[in-house]
Amino acid sequence: MTAVDASVFEGSFWRDPYPAYERLRAQAPVREVALPRGGTTWLVTRYDDVRAAFTDPRLVKDHRATLPPEVRAQAPRLPGPFGSMMILLDPPDHTRLRRLVSRAFTARRTAELRPRIEALAAALLDAVPETEPVDLLAGYAVPLPMAVICELLGVPDTDRDAFGTWSRALVDDQDDVDEQQATAGLAQYLYALVETKRRAPDGALISALVEVSEAGDQLSTEEVVAMGVLLLIAGHETTANLIGNAVLGVATDAALREHLLADPQRIPAAVEEFLRWDGPVHNAPLRFAAEDVEYSGTTIPAGSVVTLSVGAANRDPGRFDRPELLDPDRETGGHLAFGHGLHYCLGAPLARLEGEVALRSLLDRFPDLRLAVPPEELRHRRSVLVHALETLPVVLRPEAAG
Ligand code: HEM
Repeated sequence: MTAVDASVFEGSFWRDPYPAYERLRAQAPVREVALPRGGTTWLVTRYDDVRAAFTDPRLVKDHRATLPPEVRAQAPRLPGPFGSMMILLDPPDHTRLRRLVSRAFTARRTAELRPRIEALAAALLDAVPETEPVDLLAGYAVPLPMAVICELLGVPDTDRDAFGTWSRALVDDQDDVDEQQATAGLAQYLYALVETKRRAPDGALISALVEVSEAGDQLSTEEVVAMGVLLLIAGHETTANLIGNAVLGVATDAALREHLLADPQRIPAAVEEFLRWDGPVHNAPLRFAAEDVEYSGTTIPAGSVVTLSVGAANRDPGRFDRPELLDPDRETGGHLAFGHGLHYCLGAPLARLEGEVALRSLLDRFPDLRLAVPPEELRHRRSVLVHALETLPVVLRPEAAG
């Protein structure tokens, strides 16, 4: 079984990746598979392997660590500012960059944002039609986290549409999108924004990073740009789909809706279970094997690309009892939706808070919301990284729609 498996990322996978994950976990838990945009990756699918691999120092983020030492020193990072994103780096660069931003995302700082997130959610819900079908992804799930992360970073309202288009082009695996154009667009935008903040500081996070970069040699302009791009993409593509997948859950499952309406204190635990059961990030961004690495009896050769499938791990029956069931009362401790180890999601407290506020505000106002189309008509995005709907047509007040 040495040939590359070209049957994983195709067909019904985008809609429902879980049968493919189940097959791999049982039959080939460490498998080289074809990627939709070319190339291959070794996909790791069992919970114990994925968790161990997240802290395995032989699996690195910076591809240069896989090169022979004599070439490594001269090898460039990825071109442009993206090579300076901390999610693509290893210590000590990763450690230095993460320390600079981690204070802005602690649980305590995040909790202070609750009233603002509630106000943003309320304003979005004020604007959506109540008795005719509305796409709650475009009208609610996407703009809410986008507004939050843009306010934190200091990105003006007027620039958000262009930004959303670029970010999507980078996250999706469509053949018809120009990834290079999106990369260039984003980089250019962030360089211009950094210049604006230099001239007119506003106290938001990008401004603060610009000040750090001016105070010494701790942070280059390129690194500020890279951090801005990373936080903008990671801060909304993910949480938007947590909200989208969770709203789909409550719109289609009357018992779950009743359970949460009976006691809204259950919502945070339900958000945690949504993260485990159908978290928005189902495969962590790429890693590289710096040397031969063995998991579940299979050797991943040095130099290979490795993908840790958190979506597969979170449905491993070896770790979670009847994993295919969405059980809002389940003990979800140890799920890997936010990763594990050094690169553990910086925005986890923010994502949890946004998910909770989004679901609570929606159910509070529209307890009877329903899907506006049969579930089999829903379409999903073609993305190895995120499990995400294209649109989410919902009727908020079906009783008034007649
Ligand atoms: C890293 C998932 C929301 C910022 C990660 C990783 C995962 C993840 C799996 C680890 C990647 C790896 O090990 O390769 C999620 C999910 C989210 C979410 C499921 C929503 C439900 C957010 C938000 C932010 C954010 C709101 C905004 C601040 C980041 C950053 C990293 C990261 C900056 C890289 C950390 C590092 O390299 O040290 N996220 N994320 N994420 N996430 Fe999130």
